[in-house]
Amino acid sequence: MNANIAIDGPAGAGKSTIAKQLAAKLGLLYVDTGSMYRALAVFFLRRGLSKEDEKGISGAVAEASVGIRYVDGTQRVFLNGEDVTDSLRNEETGNMASSSSAYPAVRERLLGLQRELAEKNAVVMDGRDIGTVILPDAALKIYLTASVEERTRRRVNELLAKGVPADADQIKHDIEERDQRDMNRAVAPLRRADDAVLVDSSDMSIEEVVDVISALYREKCRK
Ligand code: DC
Repeated sequence: MNANIAIDGPAGAGKSTIAKQLAAKLGLLYVDTGSMYRALAVFFLRRGLSKEDEKGISGAVAEASVGIRYVDGTQRVFLNGEDVTDSLRNEETGNMASSSSAYPAVRERLLGLQRELAEKNAVVMDGRDIGTVILPDAALKIYLTASVEERTRRRVNELLAKGVPADADQIKHDIEERDQRDMNRAVAPLRRADDAVLVDSSDMSIEEVVDVISALYREKCRK
């Protein structure tokens, strides 16, 4: 088994930024599993399925195939052979991903691909159930979180930097709603694995978080 790092945590805790930097620093491959759920969400939206339609979504998911390729070190996500990477980061796709990822058939569709990536490469994989379900034997498990207020602030700044108007109250509400869904679903809910290290990034810089996690990884892998 490769010496993998599993990072789980709620939306907006900084998982992808941290995981990307860790991968570069430690020479690991970064795997963003949220993008895979988002790619399936694009498929369901294109089919005109509603996010409450578990039966329709579970029936359609077998026709969607998600693939990952690395172009210049960056993960690109393919849906039935089409590169959909640039259409994954919007609220509609995020909401569909959050709802549809609660359905067992949807999770089942991605489980094999995620485990295979970690068997073939040493990875930093981020998501919601990586330490609990996908890679229970990961060398290091991190539960990365931050307060709702801080996550809202970061998201607002991210949107403003892109020139997109941001309604802080609405964003806070969406974050809270997504937390509730991700943490309370029946299958693979977001929770801290018993052996995961809790890192609260509310008052930490990105660099500090990366330093803390790489030190933990180096320590674990020396043993
Ligand atoms: O990390 P993200 O916001 O891109 O993820 C989008 C949604 O996908 C998130 O609301 C929950 C779901 N997800 C999941 O259920 N399991 C994962 N391993 C990753 C994401």
